[in-house]
Amino acid sequence: MKTNIKRDIIKLKKEKNAVILAHYYQPQEVQKIADYVGDSYYLSKIGLDCEENNIVFCGVKFMAESAKILAPNKRVFIPNKEAVCSMVNFAAKEEVLREKEKHPNAKVVSYINSLTELKTISEACCTSSSAVDIIKNIDADKILFVPDKNLGSYVSEQITDKKIILWNGHCYVHNQIKAQDIINMKEKHGQDIKVAVHPECTKEVRDLADFIGSTGQIIEYITCDNSEKFLIVTEQGINYELKKRNPNKKFYYLDMVCKSMKKTSLQDIYYCLKNETNEIIIDDEIRELAYNALHNMHILSEKCKNASVN
Ligand code: 13P
Ligand code: SF4
Repeated sequence: MKTNIKRDIIKLKKEKNAVILAHYYQPQEVQKIADYVGDSYYLSKIGLDCEENNIVFCGVKFMAESAKILAPNKRVFIPNKEAVCSMVNFAAKEEVLREKEKHPNAKVVSYINSLTELKTISEACCTSSSAVDIIKNIDADKILFVPDKNLGSYVSEQITDKKIILWNGHCYVHNQIKAQDIINMKEKHGQDIKVAVHPECTKEVRDLADFIGSTGQIIEYITCDNSEKFLIVTEQGINYELKKRNPNKKFYYLDMVCKSMKKTSLQDIYYCLKNETNEIIIDDEIRELAYNALHNMHILSEKCKNASVN
C-alpha cells in the first residue's frame, strides 16, 4: 500500500507541476517523499524560489500561508488543514494594536509562527534562525516582540542596546521542558553529553545549553561537532535528518512531540494532489500588507549575512 501511494504521489507531482516541502518536524515518511526539507526560514525562501507552480506544504498552516503571501502567483496547498500551530492564537491583531498604543515608538516584530492578520501590522517577521539578525538590523530602538516570550527573551539576551517588549505567548512543546529534565538526562547519559536547545525553550533550559538554534542550525551544529552523543531539546521529528547526516552519533530526546506537525500523512498528500483540496486562499489586501513583513524578514536577515561576509 505504502509503495503504491509513494509511486502515485511522485506521478501526480509531475503531472501537476508540484513541489513538496516539509518541515523537519514532519513524520519520517513525509520527509522522505518531500523535494525540500528544512527549517521555517529555509522553507519560506524555497517556496519563493522554486520553479513549480504548485506547492504542497507539509508543515503547519502559518508556514503554508507565508509561502502563499510571498509567492501569490503560485497555488499553495496544505495536505491536512487541521495542522495548525497553537502558538499563533496567543496574539490577535487587535490586542497587539492596543499594546502598541502604550509604546508609540516601538515597532512590531512578529515571529513567523503567527496569524496572517498579525503580520499585516508588523514591521517585519522573523524565524528562530533569523530573529537576532532582524532585530539587530531593524531601524528601531524599541521592539514589541510577539507572540513567543521565550524567543523574545533569548533575543533580548543577545541584543542589549535595544528595548524588547515581550508578549506572553509560548509553544506548549518547548515551554513544558524544565531545567531539571536536562539535569536528569545528563545524570543518566553522562555529563559530557552535548545539549542542543531550540530558542522556544525557557531561559532556565537555555542556560544549560551547549548550543541554541533553530532546527536547521541544530542540525548544522551537530553535523560539524565531533562529540558522540547529544541531547536534543526540540521536537523529535528532527531525528530523521540528524540520523541521516550523522549515522554514527547518538541522540537522546525528551518527550517533545508537536501533535499538529504529526497530522500530515502520505494519504493526505495524495488526496491533496489528486483533488487539489485545501488550497490556501488569502484576501489580496491582507496578503499585500502581510507581504511587507515577510519580505522585510528576508531583506533584514540577508543584510546581516552580507555584513558578516565582508
Ligand atoms: P524552526 O524555525 O527552527 O524550523 O522552528 C519552527 C517551529 O515551529 C519550532 O517549534
Ligand atoms: Fe507551533 Fe510549537 Fe508545534 Fe512549532 S512545535 S509548530 S511552535 S506548536
